[in-house]
Amino acid sequence: MSTTKEKITEALKQVIYFKKQNNIVDLGMIHDIRVVRNEITVSIVFPDMNDPSVGIVCNSATNILKKEFGEDTPVTVKPVSEAELGKGPLSGVTNIIAVISGKGGVGKSTVAANLAVSLAKMGKSVGILDADIMGPSVPIMFGVEEEHPGVIEREGKPLIIPIQKYDVKILSLGFFVTPDQALMWRGSMINKAFNQLMNDAEWGDLDYLVIDMPPGTGDIQLTLAQDYRVTGTILVTTPQKIAIADVRRAAMMYRQEKLTIPLFGLIENMAYFTPDELPDKKYYIFGKGATDQLAAELDIPVLGRIPIVEKITESGDNGTPLSLDVLSPVSAAFNDIAVETMKQVEIKQALTPN
Ligand SMILES: Nc1ncnc2c1ncn2[C@@H]1O[C@H](COP(=O)(O)OP(=O)(O)O)[C@@H](O)[C@H]1O
Ligand SMILES: [Mg+2]
Repeated sequence: MSTTKEKITEALKQVIYFKKQNNIVDLGMIHDIRVVRNEITVSIVFPDMNDPSVGIVCNSATNILKKEFGEDTPVTVKPVSEAELGKGPLSGVTNIIAVISGKGGVGKSTVAANLAVSLAKMGKSVGILDADIMGPSVPIMFGVEEEHPGVIEREGKPLIIPIQKYDVKILSLGFFVTPDQALMWRGSMINKAFNQLMNDAEWGDLDYLVIDMPPGTGDIQLTLAQDYRVTGTILVTTPQKIAIADVRRAAMMYRQEKLTIPLFGLIENMAYFTPDELPDKKYYIFGKGATDQLAAELDIPVLGRIPIVEKITESGDNGTPLSLDVLSPVSAAFNDIAVETMKQVEIKQALTPN
């Protein structure tokens, strides 16, 4: 490194990235330093380009370099995103799919778990992150609630190792916090825990990371939308009018101007009931038509409908997602949902430049 580059690096140590409470040099945020004649060009890597501190850090770097090397020195400071450089902890994850709902109890975790298993059965590499801190049910649904994820050190940084079952890598906030403890947590603590499971875990190369989101429109939803490259969201609802009203609200949050995350579609859970002895009958216990109406209103497809089946609860409680049972019609429904999800990913890829 030339003396000038060394001096530039030294000067940049005065620039603090407040989010991580350290200077940008020690945080490894300096991507490149170039000196051509007396012109200085520095590029700084940021995990999230929408972060308001991007501008603050770049301005402060420019000012410090000018102070150090003379006000007349041409200085260019460029921000680059981790994603652009193929860096970033989740860089091995091709698609992040968030499963969301307006309210709890509509079957969001059931859908997330079975979607993950169905994708894995199709040969995809899959992870599932249970971000529902108040009601983490993914560990139970996979029968791994007694497990404790290990930690390994990678390049001096501790990484949480997801639990593996049914060819799915599993992490849950529930492995680390009980819902009772979570009740005492502030939003910022919950966000921090969520970010750790996203960033400080050894997800490795995944085709799909399915996230079982908390219900509603809280802090984690905003963090996910603003700080991560979410490929798309799947909205789970039941046909009741009240559930539809809640899911509409959640959808609208993701539709806000700045949050350009595609809504892949709706899944209507508990769509109808078919008694074993009358397999051709469908009883629309919770009503009919409201989901289609919402899909039309939001201009998104209905990705699948899942009937009310007692075995879903049984299989969820004993840790064997029903999609593992090839003979179950519900398994077929989840396979179709996995196929529809992959189609939506393709549509999104076709629409995204580069
Ligand atoms: N299609 C279904 N038929 C019968 N029971 C279901 C169905 N979907 C979900 N359940 C049951 O409803 C309860 C809530 O589902 P869950 O997936 O935990 O919802 P959420 O994650 O939205 O709170 C669970 O006991 C689950 O087994
Ligand atoms: Mg749940």
